Amino acid sequence: MSNFGNYEDRIKNFSWLISEQELGYQPGQPINIGWYCSDRVCQQGKGDKTALIWEGFGGEKKVYSYNDLRLYSNAFARFLTDSGIKAGDRVCLFMDRIPELYIGFVGILKTGAIAQPLFSAFGEDSLFVRLENAQTTAIFTQKKHVSKVRKIKDKLPHLKHIFIVDYDGKNPLQDREKAFSMEGLGGVEDYDVYPTYAESPSVLHYTSGTTGMPKGVQHVHYSLISQYLTAKWVLDLRDDDIYWCTADPGWVTGTSYGIIAPFALGVTQCVLDSGFSAEAWYRFIEKNKVTVWYSAPTAIRSLMKAGDEIIKKFDLSSLRHLASVGEPLNPEAVNWSIRVFNKPFHDTYWQTETGCILITNFPGMPVKPGSMGRAFPGITATVLNPNNHEPYPQPGRIGLIGIKPGWPSMMRGYWKNEEAYKNKFRNGWYLTGDRARLDGDGYFWFVGRDDDIINTGGHLVSPFEVESALLEHLAVAESAVVSKPDPINMEVVKAFVTLKPGHTPSKDMELDIMNFIRKKLSPLAMPQEIEFVDTLPKTRSGKIMRRILHAKEWGEEAGDTSTLENE
Ligand code: WT7
Repeated sequence: MSNFGNYEDRIKNFSWLISEQELGYQPGQPINIGWYCSDRVCQQGKGDKTALIWEGFGGEKKVYSYNDLRLYSNAFARFLTDSGIKAGDRVCLFMDRIPELYIGFVGILKTGAIAQPLFSAFGEDSLFVRLENAQTTAIFTQKKHVSKVRKIKDKLPHLKHIFIVDYDGKNPLQDREKAFSMEGLGGVEDYDVYPTYAESPSVLHYTSGTTGMPKGVQHVHYSLISQYLTAKWVLDLRDDDIYWCTADPGWVTGTSYGIIAPFALGVTQCVLDSGFSAEAWYRFIEKNKVTVWYSAPTAIRSLMKAGDEIIKKFDLSSLRHLASVGEPLNPEAVNWSIRVFNKPFHDTYWQTETGCILITNFPGMPVKPGSMGRAFPGITATVLNPNNHEPYPQPGRIGLIGIKPGWPSMMRGYWKNEEAYKNKFRNGWYLTGDRARLDGDGYFWFVGRDDDIINTGGHLVSPFEVESALLEHLAVAESAVVSKPDPINMEVVKAFVTLKPGHTPSKDMELDIMNFIRKKLSPLAMPQEIEFVDTLPKTRSGKIMRRILHAKEWGEEAGDTSTLENE
């Protein structure tokens, strides 16, 4: 029997009070995620229980109990408070998946400051726009990433502190830099956790926008209420589980379900800080006896590609429940997992903005391969007619996924961008920006995004951001960025580029531009192909029509081209 049980019963009796009561939260009283993730678990007598099993790139292993998590997160918190960090300040985590990332996140929240995790593969431009927009006060990083911070810090007057967590004394520290060793000083026994309340800001995650620069999605401490319960009911987490979430905390899956929910549930989780390899992943599951595994379609497709033979080399019988998020999970992947693991991957659908899972194939209920599943109790999800933003009276029609606002972990705004936030609502519905179809059983079938954003391997990339970076390359005159199909990543970034006079297309030029983007933005945003063209399709007002290029890549009809300038 799953934690969730029966859908009809859960829907009938649902209230978020279930979660509040399990967590012992009283409305109006303080609620601090950092405290729930560590101190409370220890108070429940689980101080000696393993919180985190960490394995590094070279097989190095570290294990932390809940008491260690409490003591070391206190050390982070004390250090920040002593450094003058105040509640509400933005503190960035810019690190690989090392223990300091997980424990530091908990420590930041304990001070009342806002945790701003950023993907460590970001290049200096991606880092800069996010630190500038958030007016970030402090950043924790590693030796290997500090050079990127050094390149931009002079343009960041608000950035007062650069903390290096693995400083070895070899190179002198520069202006604003300071060493902080989590374990160096030992843990801190007593730290007065800052009394944040339900609506106090907690986490700021950046997500790609359609037209503008990335938007800071602002969450609050009350988000715990829905993160906790969805992890319990959808990921089916239990006290004796060994849980593995493969997402990086630079993205929301890696915080909501890679830090907050598992720690608040007092579950043991493991982290593998290395790139993808089917062999290494299966070995990791075998070695740690992983029971619940939360991953993503691109990883699953890569495992499928590695073949079934390799699976036979490992004992994966510990696996009890599998879930997936981030992009469409194809039915082939679900059927494959039933064949090789004897259980399906359960799709989960949500967003950075929603903070928790909204729609899912629940444990213990029949999975419809290819469908995202049904709405979580307490979540009112529907498919809206795009013309009037009213729910379709009957299932079966393709429209926009709309959610009734008001669940605990919904974003409270986009950082300093009220207009973009307002734009997400129509007719009393929060618009996800995705299109789907509902069937007669209440299952949602994902159709596609309703904007130009590219979802490559589960990571959202804004064509606008890549186009802007391309224009900084000295040979590029104009650019247009679209997606093109890819068997593993579903879609990848493709750029159409016109060159300035005096520059000629070549393979070297293509590689040079690709590398330029990889360094400035990130490997995810790097175009996998650059097509050099003489002109780009534009409207009469001069706007580049990505739609035409997109249609060409996907072998689709381009639709209305009546406003095209050079047709
Ligand atoms: C977008 C949100 C929330 C976790 C990671 C992504 C797409 C998400 C699914 C799914 C099809 C999905 C949507 C969504 N997406 N889950 N199960 N099936 N598409 O967070 O970066 O904010 O991306 O990812 O397009 O809007 P994110």
